[in-house]
Amino acid sequence: MSSDDVTIYPATRLQGRLCVPGDKSISHRYALLAALATGNTTIQGYSTGLDCASTLHCLATLGVSIDIGQSDKITGLQVRIQGRGLGGFTQPSTPLDAGNSGSTMRMLTGVLAAHSFQSLLDGDKSLRQRPMNRVIVPLERMGASIKATNGRPPLTVNGTNELKPIIFKTDTPSAQVKSTVLLAGLHADGVTSVHESIQTRNHTELALEAFGVKVEHKDNQVLLAGRQNLKALKLRVPGDISSATFLMTAAAALPKSDVTIFDVGLNPTRTAILQVLERMGALVETKISESLGGEPSGTIRIRYGLLRKAEIMPSEVPGLIDELPALAALATQGGELLVRGAQELRVKESDRISLLTKGLRCLGAEIEEFPDGFHVQGNKKLTGGRANAYGDHRLAMAFAVAALGATGPSTIEDATAVNVSYPDFFDVLKGLGQ
Ligand code: S3P
Repeated sequence: MSSDDVTIYPATRLQGRLCVPGDKSISHRYALLAALATGNTTIQGYSTGLDCASTLHCLATLGVSIDIGQSDKITGLQVRIQGRGLGGFTQPSTPLDAGNSGSTMRMLTGVLAAHSFQSLLDGDKSLRQRPMNRVIVPLERMGASIKATNGRPPLTVNGTNELKPIIFKTDTPSAQVKSTVLLAGLHADGVTSVHESIQTRNHTELALEAFGVKVEHKDNQVLLAGRQNLKALKLRVPGDISSATFLMTAAAALPKSDVTIFDVGLNPTRTAILQVLERMGALVETKISESLGGEPSGTIRIRYGLLRKAEIMPSEVPGLIDELPALAALATQGGELLVRGAQELRVKESDRISLLTKGLRCLGAEIEEFPDGFHVQGNKKLTGGRANAYGDHRLAMAFAVAALGATGPSTIEDATAVNVSYPDFFDVLKGLGQ
């Protein structure tokens, strides 16, 4: 057994009360905007995952002074960032390493497009496979020059401090692309607008507003006048609902489970998972307790309910994109799930349609693969087995959820990938399991 493998034993139920690490999407955005602000920003509850550490590492390479504190139970991980103001980064003397993080690479490219120096952005084997034309095309329209290899990293960005604003329509709904264009637009001379056919997570818009930037919303457009100054502030990141999803699906799968998650993000652009869990039979209660930096947060209590068949419509996919592997795992436990219109899953940290299908089948599941989705028939009890996560954090956690409900033990290979978003995941699962 390799040190990257984890063994999961069947569980009868999950019970407990806990918090999950800070939201990954919000952490990236707060760090980037803090670096562009004037003054010192303090961020509490910053994600403990490696992806968000990659963002901090890249910012430090660009001359940003960052102080990372100890993580404790009250404040979570606290990060202090000394902002350099708009356009204030210094030319990096080494390549910028985004690790496994597509968000870091794409959104940072938006900011670097506005700096008149050359920078090189690279990442790990998985990130080097991911499509970047979706951000290169609009940023080149704005005046930057970006070189890639067949549309993939490494990226050589030649930025300019004379970016032009654009009106941009996203082809595929993507919060990363929207955010990249908005971050570049923040440095441009004039109003940039992004039109979305389906709304994606709005953390960038909320974070910009928290830092004092005026953002306008008109129908399905987000408009932003460039060259507005950002004011440093004190922020708190709520728990990551996408990480909580793995615990919620595990609880929804195992009879008599009852799990309560505190201080978790409840932004309506991220909570579609809760409605789907209810459609699949789980008992879900939520309570919003506060809203900080425009981000609502509160408590989710989830209890087992008899599993039912569910179908995910293509229009729902953007709001559930990171949750689909966990939902597939849940459906193997007695439900049924049909997902179509989710071809974006093929260009995530791995090909999440092909490798999800393969891994769940190795645990004994009946699952059919489509070019744009999958169909899970959960009428057969899983046996357990060996499933390879191929370094994809969400696959590792999804396989663990499925394995809890199997008749025998399972091994998840390449499971240390959970460090990307939820380093304590396996310990937490063990603590909740009975
Ligand atoms: C993210 C947006 C989504 C999501 C990713 C994080 C973000 O990606 O899958 O995990 O923080 O904006 P896309 O924008 O590619 O859909």
